[in-house]
Amino acid sequence: MPDPNELPDYVLRNRVLWDTSAPDWVSSGERGWRQEPRWGIWQIPESELGLLPDDMSGMRSIELGCGTGYVSCWLARRGARPVGIDNSEAQLATATRLAAEHEIEIELIHGNAETVPKADGSFDFAISEYGAAIWADPYLWIPEAWRLLVPGGELVFLGNHPLASLCQDLQSDAPVDRTLRQAWFGMHRIDWSEPDGSTGTEFNLPTGEWWRLFDRVGFDVVDYHELRSPQGGSEVKFYTTADWARSYPTEQVWKLRKRG
Ligand SMILES: C[S@@+](CC[C@H](N)C(=O)[O-])C[C@H]1O[C@@H](n2cnc3c(N)ncnc32)[C@H](O)[C@@H]1O
Repeated sequence: MPDPNELPDYVLRNRVLWDTSAPDWVSSGERGWRQEPRWGIWQIPESELGLLPDDMSGMRSIELGCGTGYVSCWLARRGARPVGIDNSEAQLATATRLAAEHEIEIELIHGNAETVPKADGSFDFAISEYGAAIWADPYLWIPEAWRLLVPGGELVFLGNHPLASLCQDLQSDAPVDRTLRQAWFGMHRIDWSEPDGSTGTEFNLPTGEWWRLFDRVGFDVVDYHELRSPQGGSEVKFYTTADWARSYPTEQVWKLRKRG
């Protein structure tokens, strides 16, 4: 078990990145708080994916890498009692303001989703949308999510599809194309740096390795989605175009259940 007081280099690096870029995420956060649940780059409605229980009355939820907190707001509107943890104080400042404006109670914790200061079995539902899902080490945060859940509790997470990670140019902000730039086998830590000087560390695994990790840790896979753009287009959104995402999956969603 890693020491929560000793943050890994990538957590400190990503903290700088997110504290600096938080102002760029305020308006999308505000939109998220106003709208019904829609997922990922292509804003796919919840009615198509079914990632959330309709009724979460009395459920205790944790969002791992909650950012501006709109996912936790959606859970609260379904009846959950949400907790969110995030590595960036600047992101949490936006979440705190929006929670007050929308009169929604969320317990917000500044910390690393790989070592959450909550007891074993504290939650019925865990979720991450581009939080721990891509920024934390899966070999640490997946067992941590398992520890935090009660038996039968669900973990849902959405992030980059490994194929998109494979095709990402790590030295530019160019959109993904059909070039395979990283190795599939052994994919894990992905360090990138962009021409504007920003640097970050993300994580992803080959699909088979995700499966093996879930099984080793004690999760059953309930569902898996590879998200596709509903239509084509050449506009670049988050390092991809809709044209690319008509042919290839940009995002993956895993729905898991802790073995009882
Ligand atoms: C793209 S945002 C999350 C989007 C989120 N759904 C929202 O409402 O804004 C990614 C978030 O992950 C957080 N993050 C990155 N590494 C983390 C870690 N190790 N533990 C917790 N949060 C982390 C960042 O600080 C950032 O706020």
